[in-house]
Amino acid sequence: MRSTLRFPVAACAALVLLLSTPAGAALRGVGKVVGSRALDDGLELKLSSGARVRVGFVTPDVVRVRMTPTGRFDADVSYAIEGAPPRSKATRTKQGAATQLRSASGTRIVVQHAPELAISVFDSAGRLVVADDPARPMAFNAADGSVETSMRRDDYELYYGFGEKTFPMSRHQQAMVMWNADVPDYPAGHDPSYQAIPFFIALHEGRSYGLFFNNTWRSWFDMGKLDPHRYSFGAKGGELDYYVFTGGAERTPAGVLRDYTALTGRGALPPQWSLGYHQSRWSYMNQEKVLDVAQQFRRRRIPADVLYLDIDHMDGFRVFTWNAGTFPAPKTMLDSLHEQGFRAVTIVDPGIKLDPNFPIYQSGRAGDHFVKRPDGSELHEKVWPGICAFPDFTSKAARDWFGSLYRSALDLGVDGFWNDMNEPGVFPPDDFKGPEIPLGPHRTFPLDVRHDGDGRPGNHAQYHNVYGMQMARASFEGLKKLRPEKRPMVLTRAGFAGVQRYAAVWTGDNSPTWGSLALTIPMLANLSVSGVPFVGADVGGFMGSPSAELHARWMQAASLTPYFRTHSNDVSAPREPWAFGPEYERINRAAIELRYQLLPYLYTLFEENERTGRPPMRPLWFEYPADPRAGLVEDQYLLGADLLAAPVLKEGQTSREVYFPKGAAWINWWTGKRHEGGATAKVAAPLDRLPLFIRAGAIVPVSAVTQHTGEMRDAPLTLLVARGADGSGRVFQDAGDGYGYLQGQSRTITARQQGQSLRLEMPENRGYQRVSAIEFIGLQARPPAVRIDGQEVEGAFDAATRRLRVALPGEHVKQVLLAD
Ligand code: GLC
Repeated sequence: MRSTLRFPVAACAALVLLLSTPAGAALRGVGKVVGSRALDDGLELKLSSGARVRVGFVTPDVVRVRMTPTGRFDADVSYAIEGAPPRSKATRTKQGAATQLRSASGTRIVVQHAPELAISVFDSAGRLVVADDPARPMAFNAADGSVETSMRRDDYELYYGFGEKTFPMSRHQQAMVMWNADVPDYPAGHDPSYQAIPFFIALHEGRSYGLFFNNTWRSWFDMGKLDPHRYSFGAKGGELDYYVFTGGAERTPAGVLRDYTALTGRGALPPQWSLGYHQSRWSYMNQEKVLDVAQQFRRRRIPADVLYLDIDHMDGFRVFTWNAGTFPAPKTMLDSLHEQGFRAVTIVDPGIKLDPNFPIYQSGRAGDHFVKRPDGSELHEKVWPGICAFPDFTSKAARDWFGSLYRSALDLGVDGFWNDMNEPGVFPPDDFKGPEIPLGPHRTFPLDVRHDGDGRPGNHAQYHNVYGMQMARASFEGLKKLRPEKRPMVLTRAGFAGVQRYAAVWTGDNSPTWGSLALTIPMLANLSVSGVPFVGADVGGFMGSPSAELHARWMQAASLTPYFRTHSNDVSAPREPWAFGPEYERINRAAIELRYQLLPYLYTLFEENERTGRPPMRPLWFEYPADPRAGLVEDQYLLGADLLAAPVLKEGQTSREVYFPKGAAWINWWTGKRHEGGATAKVAAPLDRLPLFIRAGAIVPVSAVTQHTGEMRDAPLTLLVARGADGSGRVFQDAGDGYGYLQGQSRTITARQQGQSLRLEMPENRGYQRVSAIEFIGLQARPPAVRIDGQEVEGAFDAATRRLRVALPGEHVKQVLLAD
């Protein structure tokens, strides 16, 4: 919508403020308000600098601010957001030199008109959420297009999210750049990284809010590094367009994430098999090797669902081809994998080999789908296949074309796809001499290459950060079109806000070090609260060979992360779970078995994510924002609200300190011992065990171990009931694939414990895993009697683990009672 009204002419000269960005460019403040126009959702303001600002409500609890230095607003479309963002009604009142906007929920925006525009947001209870810093107002540089703004900051405000960053859990007093980059072997603190998501959740005295900077250009955040009393963000171009999520009256992190994911989308329920264990390597070099790995998993009784084919399965790294020498019969191989209950994922890179005889290159060129230089020539850069052309994934036609290429792989039986190198990363040219590092943020397309931008043409500087996400979209949408009855499984390395709509994400080429293992927790937890639920890191560290101990600890730490894959580079030692000898084989098997036991719980969490935006993997503060100590815990994570994992992250450790968040009590998974919240305890962590705790009151489904998810339907399910508090649990069940669940083809089991009574509601079972037992954990002693719907039954009590197991006669059971 464009303004048709005229603004009054500015009476006095613009107040010009010259500021300097961290990058050093001169910026000019937007100045004071010289005209304003009412909008249904807020206000449009004309500033003395010539800039214009729109400020208003997206929903009653979400505020949006847009500033355009040119005075002309761009079309309101964004790759991060599907469709146009909603608008919500504002009531305006003039208050001297300020205007107040009020939403239906009572959230308020106060717009100060002079001496400089200053905006502050108050929640519905009247508490300040964010306020522009008058010492550093909204500003721009007309010469280079950059924009920035700053907010006042309290010393104790913490910040989480920002996508994939290698910083500690809270990103306060950090400076970060949003620019997708191929950064192999990244150490802690290395920035930028593979995924830029310009969104964060702030936590201040137990209350949170979120801020999303909707700008695809190279952008930056300084969260109090330059000055602890302020944070700033800005970009190299585009509008200063940001959303403030107040989190409603509750101001909880979950409320903020609900509203952020309502805007940028949620990950749809993944196919159940993709939550199993994935085994990968660059590369299993031939089909015999792939089948041998598959057979070993089954023979050794180590559960697994997915095997990966990295770049060497292709003919000269040409996408969607097979190496006829090493993979002469891919269909036979894939059929055999399927018979053994495996799925296969193949890698699909964006680079398309510049080979006039390669049909995919020919069709891409004929369809005009490749990225071009400003002079109209095709962009050629080197990646694995040598010189390549690259689809312009910001063009719908190119996405449709690329998506259709998946047909041949699907027809052969490939089940899922892995989009790599899509930052995009490119290699140095052949005559590269150094001394600069060969890969990194600078190794990408030249910034002046052209992109379609879905009808809003622009250069790579504008669209770089969405290239990977749009590749994942091409894959996801192509797969959905080709196999509408199946849920696509796409894995991507690069992404941007909203990538969760299309793909799972892994954290690229990490290192086989203890430090890199420790980094996985803040990295994955922060990605999770950036709206991306399906996340994981290469187990063992990609860039070389971990020790047996490091690998085993990594297996344990990763076993409850949403995406669980072991992967390694081409020169690392074998890393299958049995590769470290019989003792470690047992330990690694146990880690994977724990994963398979908890798959029904994890699956239920993914269903919850689709409805609410709450991620399966959660940092402690997400559930316990009022506990100040929870905000800085780096080395533990929650799986849902009910499980607390405290992996061993240091060499040689067989016990560790665990912090139990305040507001709940926690029961040791292995011993049944109870720990009160708000305290730290030293717990045993023998080499074969992940320190794991269940929240008192929780009820969590646990499956019998299966060798793959295809066997789960027939495996008995136990409801694990953690004693010591009242509480409830639910289990979501459906076909595990397809979209029947959206038409009601599913059931949700609910269970509630109150005092000594456990009430069960198990809707009709249309072929789902059957609940066959209840197991109570955290009991002080064997209860004198157990009654199922009034009938006394025998339970099996294990004093060592303080568990009581009670078999259920059927799913008609309504109540299990523990007698005093
Ligand atoms: C990149 C990927 C890695 C993959 C390799 C070869 O380094 O990050 O996972 O194995 O390329 O395809």
